[in-house]
Amino acid sequence: MIDRPFNRRRALLTLGGAVLAGGLAARGWAGGQSYPTAPAMPADAKVFETILTAAPHQRLLANAPSDILDYAADGPVVLRMRQGEWLRAKMINRIHEHTSIHWHGIRLPNAMDGVPYLTQPPTEPGESFTYQFQPPDTGTFFFHPHCNTVEQLGHGLAGILIVEGDEARPHDADLVLAYRDWRIDEAGKFKPLFTEAGAAKAGTFGDHRTVNDKVQPVYQVPAGGDIRLRFLNLDMSRIVDLGVVGADAWLIATDGNPLPPQKLKSWRMGPAMRADLTLRAPMTPGTRVQIVNYYAAQPLVLAEIEATGPTLNRPPFEPAALKPHHIPEPDLATAETFPLRLTAATAPGGGNASELPPDLVLPDGEVLRYADALCLTPNTFWSFNGRSWPMQSHEVLPPPLVTFQRGRSYIIEIINQTPHMHPIHLHGHTFKVLSSNKEEIMPHFADTTLVAPKERVKIALKADNPGDWMIHCHIIEHQDTGMMGIFRVA
Ligand code: C2O
Ligand code: CU
Repeated sequence: MIDRPFNRRRALLTLGGAVLAGGLAARGWAGGQSYPTAPAMPADAKVFETILTAAPHQRLLANAPSDILDYAADGPVVLRMRQGEWLRAKMINRIHEHTSIHWHGIRLPNAMDGVPYLTQPPTEPGESFTYQFQPPDTGTFFFHPHCNTVEQLGHGLAGILIVEGDEARPHDADLVLAYRDWRIDEAGKFKPLFTEAGAAKAGTFGDHRTVNDKVQPVYQVPAGGDIRLRFLNLDMSRIVDLGVVGADAWLIATDGNPLPPQKLKSWRMGPAMRADLTLRAPMTPGTRVQIVNYYAAQPLVLAEIEATGPTLNRPPFEPAALKPHHIPEPDLATAETFPLRLTAATAPGGGNASELPPDLVLPDGEVLRYADALCLTPNTFWSFNGRSWPMQSHEVLPPPLVTFQRGRSYIIEIINQTPHMHPIHLHGHTFKVLSSNKEEIMPHFADTTLVAPKERVKIALKADNPGDWMIHCHIIEHQDTGMMGIFRVA
């Protein structure tokens, strides 16, 4: 059955689609796609225009240049635009395979979400695609491909998007600190980015740890100045317990979303999560402050800032809150609850099939198991509610895990039934993290939330953005081995 020629399987599925419980989504099939469309840009829009060419480059990360992929040769691209502007980004594909750009954390129209086969056709080598939307919220965001993500993101393809306009009081310095590991050896050569052992557990780790592609960089800031740090965990599997040593820092935004300043002890961040900090730089030039990761046997210094003269003479430091967002508050009184269980995969031809739709009986009497029909491979390790994302996602889009009624509020109870951490990310919506069964949670808005083993985390959202949206683990090997699904807002 594993060797069945692909075309036959495809034909069988077309024939049998209606037999599968819920049917397979009609979209995503060769010939039958219909993609969403985005509202046109008004003629008088203020436009922030850019060209992002995804291409191979050589970059010095270790002792010798590495063959990476990125939107620029020298370090991650940082786009800084103002709230109210429209972003028009032409993505040109100069890499060896199709790609796309997903704008992580931005509440944008479905058509601009950058998920190939779901929201747009794949952009093939030599082709381009223009993304055009008005980001509604200020904050620290990033963007990355949503195709073969282990390889493309693993080789470097990602950039940072800052939407400015949230400061009631300006800072004297505003630094982006984009953290990630590289899976390279001393000679700068990439090691395999995907390993079965890693994918089945906490992910495959790199050991060349960088901030903005440099090992423990030191940034100079004005002594006595007010400093904003935008820390992004852009790694594919590392967890960071973000801390600051040598100064008092306050957390002022989570995933770009302002919150009343909280004195930072440490802030746990899974892949894709961001934290904005504010602090007062030391008064004495030459003094350094360390940005550290406590999620390690020994706290690891990721980057440093160094005060340089002349010393600024500012009034005593008061952490200032950022201007609030206008994310629709979920209505908890009327919200329905959707349980999302994080589960290990059902192995093809075995395992616990009780969660799966009934087997598909083909006209010739052959029984096609659901897992086989969805082309699950032995490399499928993870699932939501017992349903794994099919490996050949471009051939078959699974039906949505759930359909949310547009305009209604929902609580998603994320229940981690695995022995590993999972940073769960939703597209198109910003949610409110409400509570956990394990610890006291300060309610905050986010687009990605880290769920520990045996933890149950409640998040809530108002389903106000119509379309088919991805929901997945942002440990990319988990995403690519099954822990991904679609939720529909209609
Ligand atoms: Cu960074 Cu589907 O996400
Ligand atoms: Cu995961």
